[in-house]
Amino acid sequence: MKKITIICISLAAFVVVALAAVYNESNFSSRGRMYQPAPEGHLIGQDNGSGGGLHHPGEDCGTCHRVGGRAESHLFTMAGTLYEDRSARSVVKQGEVIMEDWDGNIISMTSNEVGNFWTYSPVASDPYTVSNYHGHEPFVPMYVEDEEGNLLEPADPDSSNTWHYKTWIRNGNAYRPMASIAGVGGSSARNRMSCNMHHGGVAHRAGGLWVGKGSTLTSYPASGLSYQKHAYPILRSKCSPCHIPGKAKTSVNTKTALPEFGVDSTCIDYSGGLDLMTYEGSTVKVPKLGDDGKPIPNEFDTYSKIGVLGVVNTNASEQSALLLKTVSGGTQHAGGVFWNDSSLDYIALRQWIAEGALEN
Ligand code: HEC
Ligand code: HEC
Repeated sequence: MKKITIICISLAAFVVVALAAVYNESNFSSRGRMYQPAPEGHLIGQDNGSGGGLHHPGEDCGTCHRVGGRAESHLFTMAGTLYEDRSARSVVKQGEVIMEDWDGNIISMTSNEVGNFWTYSPVASDPYTVSNYHGHEPFVPMYVEDEEGNLLEPADPDSSNTWHYKTWIRNGNAYRPMASIAGVGGSSARNRMSCNMHHGGVAHRAGGLWVGKGSTLTSYPASGLSYQKHAYPILRSKCSPCHIPGKAKTSVNTKTALPEFGVDSTCIDYSGGLDLMTYEGSTVKVPKLGDDGKPIPNEFDTYSKIGVLGVVNTNASEQSALLLKTVSGGTQHAGGVFWNDSSLDYIALRQWIAEGALEN
């Protein structure tokens, strides 16, 4: 019996060592996980801390909840606020924030009366973390390798920059994948931040994650739909965080996302080259950044994207990519499912397209 236990323990130890030593890119890449549904089977809300946490909804919890901050006694690994939509008009109570970390651990948090959620659960560290400034160069490996590419020293697991995860938000049956897979982050001076920093609202100063189930407007006319009054507000409130003009890439934060591995290996353009904030599409020129992270004079990167017109079919409105990609039972979409064919927003968009998808 004892012998078996010892064998088991050493086997387990071997497996752990093997996992730590073998670098598996597919274990964590935004491309590889682009179409993954939210994980199931875990205990919902299992990773919430106890206590009230009813203050400062929408603010960056990390300003106080960090090492050396005013709330250092409550050092979260992740925290934030959950809203119904990007305008952050109303919060989601009892929504679920699901994180899957680098090791495949599932962390589940439930939002409270003010939409706040938080956890103290450890987030696995990516030994091959690359530090960068918001996905821009310079890309500096935080790990040490020998000439053969063997890992000599992993990135410091105590640094929250190395904690990597992927996130989904669930609100009843609806779930929404969150595109960003940045590390938990901050810097040595600012060692914790929160979801509220990045997933910012549009109309509201505060940030926050959002997952909308309801329709954008409470009602739509049966005919005579308008782009300005009806279609655009839907696209703005549901599609804007991803389908925007300009650069829209997940940040470079692990070894295989470095340019020498092909920038696209783990990085994705989360707009898919589609800008739904403009009718005819957009071309945006942004200054190119040098190795020091500063703009190079007179050098630009150009991002050209198709617009709403490029994904509508006025002869068969239901067959429009805009609807097929987003309706329940339609084609696979990295942004997830937004409605079914009896949802008000869906019917309004379909009608607007059938009426010629005019820029009215
Ligand atoms: C302006 C500073 C500040 C911000 C911003 C802030 N907190 Fe706090 N928080 C505190 C302080 C101070 C405490 C009490 C610490 C102590 O008891 O030592 C606290 C305590 C807590 C607690 C412990 C239980 C309780 O209610 O006392 C939770 C949970 C919490 N905060 C959640 C959050 C969340 C979630 C956010 C972001 C939406 C957030 N906090 C933003 C300052 C802040
Ligand atoms: C979380 C990010 C995200 C959100 C939100 C999102 N999408 Fe997407 N979408 C993507 C990504 C990434 C792609 C490219 C991969 C794919 O085709 O699924 C894409 C692709 C598409 C395409 C295909 C483009 C093409 O040229 O073939 C359409 C159409 C589309 N999305 C429509 C929408 C609409 C309409 C909404 C809002 C109701 C929306 N998306 C919300 C991420 C998102």
